[in-house]
Amino acid sequence: MSSEAKTTITLLKGTAAVCLLLAGLSGCSQPVSEPQPSSSPEVSIDEETAKSMAKRGFEKLGGSLKEQLQSAMGSGGPVAAVEVCHTVAPELAQSVSEELGFKVGRSSHRLRSQKNLASPVIEEYLSKYSETPAADAPVEAIEKDGVWTVIAPIPTQPLCLTCHGEAEALDPELLSALKEKYPEDQAVGFKEGDIRGVFWAEIPHKT
Ligand code: HEC
Repeated sequence: MSSEAKTTITLLKGTAAVCLLLAGLSGCSQPVSEPQPSSSPEVSIDEETAKSMAKRGFEKLGGSLKEQLQSAMGSGGPVAAVEVCHTVAPELAQSVSEELGFKVGRSSHRLRSQKNLASPVIEEYLSKYSETPAADAPVEAIEKDGVWTVIAPIPTQPLCLTCHGEAEALDPELLSALKEKYPEDQAVGFKEGDIRGVFWAEIPHKT
């Protein structure tokens, strides 16, 4: 990993933790010692709150990934950028999850890395919308077993085609670097505007 990438991760980890789990709920500013209005100390997070918490996570993860990708492509070209994606993408997902206090990640109906395999709830979304243009696919929040799974489509942009476009059009050196790291790579053949995959967040319904 480049030292630049390390700095970004350290910065992300260092950012002050936020009262996010309780954001938007009236209990947030109450001192802990005050009597609770209900007999249960649990508070539930409603759909809108879950969606806005998730959106914050997606913006953080998406923003830092794109930044890392562009700087790696600019300094070392796409082959070097594959190495950055390979090491930095999972680390960024982990550090953003730690910072926010709930899990965020990426997945796809056509995976490059098997490590990004989705949960059944996310798989269902992917099979429903994989053929829908990304611009028309909704952000969904699904509640199951006390956890909100929030899912948002990721559109294929021109920048992405360098590594996710038609296999025949990819740089041969890049293609062999991809094959070496991801022998089961299915993430080629995308066109601009296609759903490349999704961002997901898993937010416990009650705290
Ligand atoms: C330099 C090559 C490169 C470029 C450019 C690139 N990606 Fe990727 N992408 C990768 C690699 C490598 C992985 C696997 C990362 C890992 O090991 O977790 C990946 C994984 C993903 C995943 C996770 C799901 C999966 O298939 O494993 C998504 C979603 C994704 N890319 C979307 C995008 C989008 C959207 C863009 C454009 C903004 C983009 N990528 C541009 C190389 C690239």
